[in-house]
Amino acid sequence: MNYNKKTVKDIDVKSKKVLLRCDFNVPMAKDGSGVITDDKRIRAALPTIQYLLDQGAAVIACSHMGKPKGEVKPELSLKPVAARLGELLGKDIIMAADVVGPDAQAKAAALQPGQVLLLENTRFEKGETKNDPDLAKAMAGMAEVYVSDAFGAVHRAHASTAGVADYLPAVSGFLIQKELDFIGGALANPKRPLVAILGGSKVSSKIGVINNLLEIADTIIIGGGMAYTFSAAQGGTVGDSLLEEDWKDYSLEMIQKAKDKGVKLLLPVDTVIADKFAPDADSKVVTSGAIPDGWQGLDIGPETVKLYCDAVADAGTVIWNGPMGVFEFEKFAAGTKAVAEALSKTSAITIIGGGDSAAAVQQLGYADKMTHISTGGGASLEFMEGKELPGVACLLDA
Ligand code: 3PG
Repeated sequence: MNYNKKTVKDIDVKSKKVLLRCDFNVPMAKDGSGVITDDKRIRAALPTIQYLLDQGAAVIACSHMGKPKGEVKPELSLKPVAARLGELLGKDIIMAADVVGPDAQAKAAALQPGQVLLLENTRFEKGETKNDPDLAKAMAGMAEVYVSDAFGAVHRAHASTAGVADYLPAVSGFLIQKELDFIGGALANPKRPLVAILGGSKVSSKIGVINNLLEIADTIIIGGGMAYTFSAAQGGTVGDSLLEEDWKDYSLEMIQKAKDKGVKLLLPVDTVIADKFAPDADSKVVTSGAIPDGWQGLDIGPETVKLYCDAVADAGTVIWNGPMGVFEFEKFAAGTKAVAEALSKTSAITIIGGGDSAAAVQQLGYADKMTHISTGGGASLEFMEGKELPGVACLLDA
């Protein structure tokens, strides 16, 4: 995939209406109060919005929120986002009542340079997730330039993330550019050794990443629930641990592929086991592959922590995707915490995939020590899988 794309700096936006796709899919309080519990994604869009305003553009921002499946769901309205964005930018945000309906059209037509209009949740339109050309055309019709800064949604070929680029000159914003520089740079031309730390619960959700990184990395570290499938595939007993029977053969293939390619594949040598999946479970440390019945592995053990932290210490680049254990439970957070701490101390470029890994470094207090924390969960995963990202592919080449 070509990551070398034109950016907002390569296009004249003065006095132009710019359709700006953001990823404002932010977590909201479960009580329906409309309180945004983490505004990181809104903050991440500010540099591009501010730049566009400073250049004299009129900004028509849009985003999805949740999965309303083409229906108007008031609890998934972007109104709370408009309020927070207004606070952060220090200016009033004009909120449209629809996406391409009469209110959006009228407000877009009247929009002046220096003003920001936010369209309603793009997924209130049935055509959004189908990448319907009529919807894309209607959105594009309100503007003269398309800027995408929604890194978290670039893996979606939707009307607002890709379709609109058929009708407008399309460039990236600063956030996408930053994500492409860091993740793309680490994949295409890493400072070596490149160490990839892969965790999370299932092998099946990480197949693409393991497979792609085996072509690129010098060392691959496996942790989290998926390590038990590797362990069982090699004949170990895993008790009640997470196990994907169907992926045992695949795990063996990956072990063999690593050998063939000369990639160091590190698997846990010990594990912290629990008598139930609960924060107050009884726990003890056992050798990997020797988990008794009735017990389940919930974290990597202390010997494994040492092995993994040593591997990270001499790295040139570290990519981390997926926690080492159930870090949400204090008792089983030690492995994830130790790896995060090791990353905070290494001189390597440290890149954290979005989703759980980003949440872990934030929750454990190491966020400001990392070189780059991705704003994309699924998007950063698909990027690391080496897949083409439709929301990037549709942008003009530099
Ligand atoms: C995300 O939260 O990862 C992005 O906003 C994409 O959301 P989606 O998985 O609903 O497409």
